[in-house]
Amino acid sequence: MIIESVKLNNFRNYEEMEIPLNPGTNIFHGKNAQGKTNILEAVYLCGTTRSHRQAKDREMIRFGEEEAHIRMQLLKRDNPYRIDMHLKKSRAKGIAINAVPIRRASELVGLGTFVFFSPEDLNIIKNSPAERRRFLDMHLCQMSTHYLQNLSGYQKALLQRNHLLKDLSFHPEYLDTLDVWDAQLVRYGTAVMRERQKFVSQFAEKVRKVHASLTGEREELVLTYENNVGIFSFAEQLFENRQRDIRMKITSCGPHRDDLSFLISGVDIRRYGSQGQQRTAALSAKLAQIEMFREKTQDTPVLLLDDVLSELDSDRQHYLLNSIENIQTLITCTGVEDFIENRFPIDSLFLVNDGNVLKES
Ligand SMILES: Nc1ncnc2c1ncn2[C@@H]1O[C@H](COP(=O)(O)OP(=O)(O)OP(=O)(O)O)[C@@H](O)[C@H]1O
Ligand SMILES: [Mg+2]
Repeated sequence: MIIESVKLNNFRNYEEMEIPLNPGTNIFHGKNAQGKTNILEAVYLCGTTRSHRQAKDREMIRFGEEEAHIRMQLLKRDNPYRIDMHLKKSRAKGIAINAVPIRRASELVGLGTFVFFSPEDLNIIKNSPAERRRFLDMHLCQMSTHYLQNLSGYQKALLQRNHLLKDLSFHPEYLDTLDVWDAQLVRYGTAVMRERQKFVSQFAEKVRKVHASLTGEREELVLTYENNVGIFSFAEQLFENRQRDIRMKITSCGPHRDDLSFLISGVDIRRYGSQGQQRTAALSAKLAQIEMFREKTQDTPVLLLDDVLSELDSDRQHYLLNSIENIQTLITCTGVEDFIENRFPIDSLFLVNDGNVLKES
């Protein structure tokens, strides 16, 4: 899938801007705070319905405006598609594909896949489990409508159960309703865990290969899914923890506590890895993610590299840029000197300046 153009109206610091994109490497350069990341954010949002930085819709609307609009013109197997997304201050966003409004975000699944890569992603191994779960979720939500629906069902049920646990000290008579939420957690949660497990078992092999190649076969990276509760014993464990949950007023077990573990030579690099090991492993995971999308969708994802090249040494820069041949890529950076000096490919070059995008070549 290729993005032919993206048009922004009242999105962040853009009033109105249409940007034609090349099917190859598109570089956006410019000083700080000019709107480079905002372009990648708009693309990711329009393609996946989520902001990579978890921004709320109203935060992305241009200051002083009521609505924002993003339009992406896509080409998938020679068929044109148009996605329109309207962000509103106090209502849910509206989305249309080829001018036909869709009711659920899950209807976007299958059109295209997007990989966002920012310097923060290089810290995914050392940061909290929540970020590793987010990585899983951002991947699986793009691949599977079922996953998206089960995850959102789980999150809603979890929220309700936690509300109820807080209410129970004032209203002990509500205790029976706990069974209702438990049943929902188990139903949705088990489905979520199954898909995570299936994904990780295939993903781990890809990550291992990329990491071996990135480290000149010196390191073997073993990725495993650490499910917080057994896939078959979630109901039981939920029940066993019930009294504690009531006391603590929070749901203490379930897939919302899942994690991914990364081992090199038996050492858990989340805790004991060197910074370089952790960052290389994170890069391996991102590259393996591209491979997974490619293989499962028989299509290429769009890669969004936000200021990430300057964070990598030249070996890793080369490795990354060599692996993205034939993938449409949008890259932001403050200076293009590295690209020119190293003869990295540039198909389109844009200067971003205070909410304006100027095509330079
Ligand atoms: N809702 C909004 N309305 C108007 N302007 C906004 C809004 N949200 C953010 N901005 C502006 O967008 C600018 C930041 O844009 P962006 O994050 O894309 O910068 P950047 O070019 O990526 O900078 P850097 O190189 O520092 O990463 C800031 O000037 C900020 O004030
Ligand atoms: Mg930026």
